[in-house]
Amino acid sequence: MSGQRLLMGNYGDPPVTFVRGSGTELFDDTGKRYLDFLCGLAVTSLGHSHPRVAAALAGQAGTLLHVSNLFDTEPHLEVAARLDALVRSGTGATGPGRVLFQNSGAEANEAAIKLARKHQGRGRHVVVSAMRSFHGRTLATLAATGQPEKHEPFQPLPEGFRHAAWNDLAAFEAVLDPSVGAILVEPLQGEGGVNPADVDFLVGLRRLCDERGMLLILDEIQTGLGRTGRWFGFQHAGIRPDIVTVAKALGNGVPIGAVWAEADVAAAFRPGDHGSTFGGQPLAASAAREVLRVMEEIDAPACAAARGATLTGLLEALPGVSGVRGLGLLLAAELDPTALDDQKAADVARACLEAGLVVNGVTPTALRLAPPLTVTDDELAEGVAILGDVLAGDAEVAA
Ligand SMILES: Cc1ncc(COP(=O)(O)O)c(C=O)c1O
Repeated sequence: MSGQRLLMGNYGDPPVTFVRGSGTELFDDTGKRYLDFLCGLAVTSLGHSHPRVAAALAGQAGTLLHVSNLFDTEPHLEVAARLDALVRSGTGATGPGRVLFQNSGAEANEAAIKLARKHQGRGRHVVVSAMRSFHGRTLATLAATGQPEKHEPFQPLPEGFRHAAWNDLAAFEAVLDPSVGAILVEPLQGEGGVNPADVDFLVGLRRLCDERGMLLILDEIQTGLGRTGRWFGFQHAGIRPDIVTVAKALGNGVPIGAVWAEADVAAAFRPGDHGSTFGGQPLAASAAREVLRVMEEIDAPACAAARGATLTGLLEALPGVSGVRGLGLLLAAELDPTALDDQKAADVARACLEAGLVVNGVTPTALRLAPPLTVTDDELAEGVAILGDVLAGDAEVAA
């Protein structure tokens, strides 16, 4: 029996086995080359096998791998300091805040929800999030996720979650009552279809939180660390967050997540309130430390903004693409229904894969594109040319 057949079926049937990657390129087990315009879902923002991250991991593996959170280690302290500075940049927040390390996005959101509940106290435990949001797959983060079809098989879910229409301030206001302690939103919905928040919506949520003593939690797991053209997506709206969650790009492929909170909010967590055996352990933190150093050196948000503008221009000029939305290098290409010829975006993504380009269908009619922030102009042109050939129906499948 092959190893693949021993795996549970929750990921369907993966079509390719990748064995190697370098920068924007991936190679499968037959040696075929692909351009990766998905980055493992906005994770490998510095490209595959970044030499500085690889060296940091190798060095840390031979130095210290694990001691538990009963003791301090060095790499995560620098990560906490850099994250704190980046979250507060351009927000007018005084700070410093506090950071808690986890292993994934869902864990970071789960910890943020627990922190909000502990800070707000009993009776103010309800979290309001948006329809079409995605916050994770644990029971609480699934309950926060505004996609009822994902809830159904797992009912009953934990109590204390409400949803309101995306980008609709009045709808959010309408579901508020004194039991609501926090609002949790992505600044740009990733899994929900690459839907940016209106600036007025985020500013309005901040105002509602200030007026009613609620916490504003920004889920920056997909958007954070430069991808949208700012260090964090909420910075496009110039607002101040109470809690921010990060994961994906933080380790460039090494699992690590983090929660940042204002110091007075973070103070709600006392010893024993939350924990994780591996959260912030030295190997993962050494990757994150190098990722943040490199990102600051290359000015990752500026890279995303410039290359995102290039990619948007190329996509807009492509026959078969009827519109492009998103921010920086987190984009969706809406496919012209007449060019789709009864196909779904997922079918187009499959054809792109065959032709050597990795993207995904984020809605039935839209492709998500999230290349590394280090992608070159030539790679952007090559990738868009592959998509153009696929949409024109004359893709030559790469050998
Ligand atoms: C906005 C957002 N929040 C949370 C998560 C969950 O992160 P993880 O898969 O690391 O648990 C994701 C993953 O796609 C995400 O995009």
